[in-house]
Amino acid sequence: MSDSLPPVLRTARLALRPFASTDAGDLLRIFADPEVVRYWSNGAWTDIAQAEAMIAETQQAYRDGGLYRYAIALLDTDQLIGICNLRGFFEQNRRCELGYALARDHWGRGYAAEALEALLGHAFHELDMNRIEADIDPRNGASARLLEKLGFRREGYMPERWIVHGEKADTAFYGLLKSYWNERERSRSSVHATG
Ligand SMILES: CC(C)(COP(=O)(O)OP(=O)(O)OC[C@H]1O[C@@H](n2cnc3c(N)ncnc32)[C@H](O)[C@@H]1OP(=O)(O)O)[C@@H](O)C(=O)NCCC(=O)NCCS
Repeated sequence: MSDSLPPVLRTARLALRPFASTDAGDLLRIFADPEVVRYWSNGAWTDIAQAEAMIAETQQAYRDGGLYRYAIALLDTDQLIGICNLRGFFEQNRRCELGYALARDHWGRGYAAEALEALLGHAFHELDMNRIEADIDPRNGASARLLEKLGFRREGYMPERWIVHGEKADTAFYGLLKSYWNERERSRSSVHATG
């Protein structure tokens, strides 16, 4: 997982690719939006240096491991419209945590599901993960729906786990096992075979 750039993953409309230093402007636009960071511990960005710091952290992680972060870019233009990452790797247990965000003007068009479908397939099949976890704010309906659509199951509820923008916030905890993913792939291929 370390010492190399992650491979580009292509979908019908998107490329999941490593970050480039030229992504800073698009990245700032995403995280400067208070709606995007509404359920995140950190406030909206105000400075291009914050975007440059995320790119530097990501590029360092390509060398050192520990964080596997992709830029989600439109296939046609290569414009960055979001990010997705795996972190918190626990090698012995083959598990990690999922995170994601999309620019608001690209919400509601299925891009997040399309990107994460590719990332999760890569995580289970190429990175050999067995379990992927997600910790979301239960009020984040789009995020909950997205996870359920991808086959995650809600496993737990932890009250007041975070203080978000000065407000106590709960965690809805989700998990996706490789066995669920394989079963989902099998049932989809049988639908395609018969349909
Ligand atoms: C979470 C996020 C990536 C989802 O993006 P998106 O563009 O809505 O995702 P998709 O278009 O792939 O849609 C996923 C599903 O959620 C549904 N959805 C979208 N907004 C919703 C809402 N407010 N409430 C309930 N469901 C919603 C969509 O209809 C779709 O389900 P469907 O296919 O059954 O119709 C986006 O809202 C985002 O970037 N939010 C800010 C960052 C964030 O909260 N990240 C997660 C932190 S853990």
